[in-house]
Amino acid sequence: MEYLMLHLSIRAESRKRIYDELKKATLSFSEEISWEARDGCPFTLSFIEEVLRVLPGAPLMRPRYITHDVRLDDDGLLFPKGTQVLVNAYSAMREEKHFKEPNKFKPDRFIDPETGRFRPSKNCFTFSTGPRHCIGEPLSRAEVFIFLGYIMKHFDFRFPLDEATPDFSYTFGRIIRAKPYDLIFEQRI
Ligand code: HEM
Repeated sequence: MEYLMLHLSIRAESRKRIYDELKKATLSFSEEISWEARDGCPFTLSFIEEVLRVLPGAPLMRPRYITHDVRLDDDGLLFPKGTQVLVNAYSAMREEKHFKEPNKFKPDRFIDPETGRFRPSKNCFTFSTGPRHCIGEPLSRAEVFIFLGYIMKHFDFRFPLDEATPDFSYTFGRIIRAKPYDLIFEQRI
């Protein structure tokens, strides 16, 4: 949520797109904002996914031991059984071969240009993958969508104009967190 709000605070056009999607998906906000509304909100989902890609909350996975010899398809590198592996999700999700211009924040990245629908990528694995992936993923995704939805329904917000561009820096560790920042909120009437 911290980085989602920060990225949105400097993108008025994206905020408007998200607001318009939510409004339409909830019949002009006559319905509660629920996870069911997500099908009508491909840009909202894509924006959230892009935040999770560029700044994954948990950049390093827990260490694993390899249970049998593994040779990589790409370059033939061999990892013998027993090797300890630490997956760097942060860097893997900035691989040029999986994401064009990986260091750019592109909120449309996960929208299928043909169908206009949200199209997640298996190469974006912020919640890890496999049997030990995050058990809280469905809850987190629904919560972020609904929290953002209610904030957008009642407020527009922006980064204070008199301040410089936001500081997106972080301390690289077990968890990535944004530094404290201020936003201006305007209540919608
Ligand atoms: C945006 C929010 C979250 C992110 C980015 C996230 C990310 C992750 C990641 C990457 C892992 C796997 C770590 C690894 O393989 O080393 C993980 C595991 C786990 N997460 Fe989350 N998580 C989030 C929210 C939650 C929430 C809300 C809950 C609980 C309600 C939760 C519960 C767990 C548990 C129990 C595991 C361990 C699963 C296992 O070892 O089998 N997470 N999470």
